[in-house]
Amino acid sequence: MLKDKRIILGVTGGIAAYKAVELLRLLTKSGADVHVIMTRSAREFVTPLTFQTLSANPVHTELFSLIAERDIGHITLADRADLLIIAPATANIIGKIASGIADDMLSTTVMATKAPVLIAPAMNVNMYTNPVYRENEEKLRRFGYLFVPPEQGTLACGWEGEGKLAAPESIFEAAVAALSPRDLVGQTILITAGPTREELDPVRFITNHSSGKMGYALARTAQRRGARVILVSGPVSLPAPNGVELKPVVSADEMLTAVMARAGECTVIIKAAAVADYRPLTRSGQKIKKKGDELSLRFVKTADILARLGSLADRPYLVGFAAETDNLKTFAGKKLHEKNADMIVANDISRSDAGFHVDTNHAVLLFRDGRETECPLMSKDDLAAVILDHIVSEL
Ligand code: CTP
Repeated sequence: MLKDKRIILGVTGGIAAYKAVELLRLLTKSGADVHVIMTRSAREFVTPLTFQTLSANPVHTELFSLIAERDIGHITLADRADLLIIAPATANIIGKIASGIADDMLSTTVMATKAPVLIAPAMNVNMYTNPVYRENEEKLRRFGYLFVPPEQGTLACGWEGEGKLAAPESIFEAAVAALSPRDLVGQTILITAGPTREELDPVRFITNHSSGKMGYALARTAQRRGARVILVSGPVSLPAPNGVELKPVVSADEMLTAVMARAGECTVIIKAAAVADYRPLTRSGQKIKKKGDELSLRFVKTADILARLGSLADRPYLVGFAAETDNLKTFAGKKLHEKNADMIVANDISRSDAGFHVDTNHAVLLFRDGRETECPLMSKDDLAAVILDHIVSEL
């Protein structure tokens, strides 16, 4: 996700410095080339060797290092960065930046960079609410500095309140958003994800193998790119993406109601959910007891949500999915026209590296005018980005 991105991670002196190690791991895992700058106080909490080992890059500590300054190290670092993160950021570094002070490697690099700067503060609650600090943060926000607010909790100093460094996952998410194009600002995108569950009795239900991963990847990516996202999700075991409006549903009927209620406010609807095509004719109020050697159940068709959306007079841009085990393009093309969608993402679910539960997907995108785009095997996050790129150009 962050492949080929060069990120500077500035670590300042607070007990939360150890959490920057976890953040570094998340950044490198997603492909970023991370260069760590530690202030003198940060080195009191964690050793540079930890960051050096995990980043596989030398850690910068001194402004006047003879080796790094052969090529004016702070300027080179600042020039080449795509993003600068300061986590944890003390009241001191924030005050220095707000006052234009550049007296060590980190503050000088911040002053010299044209890259976006993302600040994750961590401090005592009284420092955080101090009017001097508040004014510094507001000033930096006005200048376009980005902030990941601290969390509420028990602080290392014993106080309760706001000031705890945001979770590494939240800082990582903000970093990905800061590096994402903002090309979906102004769009409201509804995404359906996961399976539906059709109950037979209070104990049993019929469902399918959908994990929701593709729909959740689309929701995360669209939100990062600036869209307002409504995620209508069947039962899955995935965390709700940050900043997304989550509407949990269980059955195909509930999904239909939830989608149709919001369709009017959407510019785009992506139907990634694996909706049950049939539901039991009746739901028994009591547990169905074991009787003969065979059991027959009667099912009735559920409403086709995508087709309903396709028949709306003033409909949003519609993207459907087609999960097929054979005749991929023929069946997917038929769905595109029959359901009156604008794009169909066709997956061959007979492959072990595509479809349900796995993190990768191999898809063909089909469009109304007959165009086809083959997507090679890629992560569901990357495929989400490709699908959204196409939506942006189609809109
Ligand atoms: N879909 C829907 N409502 C349904 C069934 C499917 O909105 N009741 C949507 C899915 O979310 C997907 C697309 O239609 O975007 C295709 O779903 P898929 O299950 O592949 O196809 P079906 O139309 O159900 O046809 P079949 O089961 O015969 O392949």
